[in-house]
Amino acid sequence: MRYLILASLVLVFIGCSDTEKNIETSNESIVDKTVQKIDTVVNNVKEEIVIDGQTIFSACATCHGINGEKKALNVSNLLQGQSKNEIITKLNGYKNGTYGGAMKGVMSSQAKILTKEKIEALGDYISKF
Ligand code: HEC
Repeated sequence: MRYLILASLVLVFIGCSDTEKNIETSNESIVDKTVQKIDTVVNNVKEEIVIDGQTIFSACATCHGINGEKKALNVSNLLQGQSKNEIITKLNGYKNGTYGGAMKGVMSSQAKILTKEKIEALGDYISKF
């Protein structure tokens, strides 16, 4: 009889600790899922900011003018009026050294940090000036 009581106590104990574990695991997975969701949202927001042509161009506007209407440092061609393809080809050219005039050094350092997606977004944005 004593063994029986002991055995059922042990069973109850194991049962409890199992439930606790289950609660813990499900709590963990809720936390995991929430963290994953937050990560996804943060990444989406980052992407939108980074791949937005207007935002990227704000760094270029100091030299080229907000609407590409200035000759940068008094030497560059106007960006205004150029097609998306021209802009993309020229930026890639600065990036790989196949395009540029006397002051191409200024641009190649800018172009080197641009990804394919950013160049695409810039081409799209600039062609609408
Ligand atoms: C510090 C000033 C400066 C900044 C900032 C700058 N540029 Fe330039 N950009 C120049 C100069 C100077 C030239 C001409 C370089 C040469 O001799 O080829 C030029 C040329 C260009 C050209 C080629 C124009 C043509 O038709 O020949 C493009 C396209 C261009 N820049 C895009 C950009 C973009 C996009 C950004 C921002 C990511 C940017 N630039 C930032 C100074 C700047």
